[in-house]
Amino acid sequence: MRILLVGGGGREHALAWKLAQSRACEQLFVAPGNAGIASIAECLPISTKDIPALVQFAREQRIDLVVVGPESPLIAGLADALTEIGVPCFGPSRAAAQLEGSKAFAKRLMAEIGVPTAPFRVFDDPAGAKRYLQERFPHQMCVVKADGEALGKGAFVCNTLQDALDAVEFLMEQQGLGEAGQRVVIEDRLYGRELSLLGFTDGETIRPVPPVRDYKRAFDGDRGPNTGGMGCFTPVPDATPTLIEQAMRQILQPTVHALATRGSPYRGVLYAGLMIVASTLPSGERSELPYVLEFNCRFGDPEAQVLLPLLKTDLVAIAQATVEGRLAELPVEFEPRAAVCVVLASGGYPGDYRVGIPIEGLDAARRIPDVLVFHAGTRLQNGQIVTSGGRVLNLVGLGDTLATARQNAYRALAHIHFEGMHYRTDIAALNA
Ligand code: AMP
Ligand code: GLY
Repeated sequence: MRILLVGGGGREHALAWKLAQSRACEQLFVAPGNAGIASIAECLPISTKDIPALVQFAREQRIDLVVVGPESPLIAGLADALTEIGVPCFGPSRAAAQLEGSKAFAKRLMAEIGVPTAPFRVFDDPAGAKRYLQERFPHQMCVVKADGEALGKGAFVCNTLQDALDAVEFLMEQQGLGEAGQRVVIEDRLYGRELSLLGFTDGETIRPVPPVRDYKRAFDGDRGPNTGGMGCFTPVPDATPTLIEQAMRQILQPTVHALATRGSPYRGVLYAGLMIVASTLPSGERSELPYVLEFNCRFGDPEAQVLLPLLKTDLVAIAQATVEGRLAELPVEFEPRAAVCVVLASGGYPGDYRVGIPIEGLDAARRIPDVLVFHAGTRLQNGQIVTSGGRVLNLVGLGDTLATARQNAYRALAHIHFEGMHYRTDIAALNA
């Protein structure tokens, strides 16, 4: 098969690495890829935003399967355009990708079908939004979210009324995130532990994958600004089978079912960002409930980097079964091992940072057993691998226990250096 993978981050390096292992994969193209991907696939100078160019390439090069990494092309309708010309696409249609493309859409759907999520209101005018915050804040902290696609910068978790009013002003009046913030969702703030729960789905059957814990804040101890993700690990000891079964039953299954009944079946990876909230039942018994913070219409980044190395089932077979609605026939299996990913970021990320800085030590890191090095923001410049983005490298350690996997990831990290690099030292430090 001739496969086209769309994207160029760490998630796509992990996807490319996994796809390339499939016996069914004869040729792998990646648009646009990065310096790491270039060593295992043919990278194309096509942007993930250029839907017509991606479709044209798929048609002219007789591509048999397209796998889409990031959300933007899906929200823009890449899967629909490919389906129209008869090219199978692993990733949801534009209508189904609204689950990530519009927070108002996702929240309204959840409210309608009874999926647990924080109470919310949707606003198209700043005055109404501010009035609501003024009523709500004395007794309830709120989160202000841009409705549209905001590349992880659209959620403002506010500690004071003033912060929340400023967020509304930034999004709606100053149009700080452009069109994405013209409409906002204001929801109650939840407290608990976050969990990423993903599943492959063909619109009917869902094949769950092991739960992952992602670290969103820039610095140790969950301090500093939100990022795209500074590291993650799986399995998650506190994500008990009962909790996962409950999240599948109350969240993923009804959501997939609702989209199918509405005529936009979801095919691809569905990712629920959950908050596990502790509560006391009327009986006095303590229990934990999963609430949805957000849906994503794709693999997480860096969640994919820990999940794909543990995936035993052929990824091409999963993608085909997903697109063709045959997932019920295909068991999806994972190795019962642990994986820890530590992200190496550019100095200054998630704010401004420099690029073009040479990276040393990649070969030494890669030679360590049970270590995988996935590139995110890297490119080749005069024969040297240099930085080209905020998140630069993903070091993945594997092991029979989380402690061993963690040790392997940090052991690999010790070999790598580039000027200004920063990373968290507490990924998967469960006793910290
Ligand atoms: P989102 O873009 O909706 O996933 O939000 C990004 C991050 O903001 C989440 O991963 C959480 O850390 C935080 N967040 C979002 N919604 C809430 C909420 N209702 N309560 C507390 N934290 C939230
Ligand atoms: N790691 C969070 C995300 O992919 O959205």
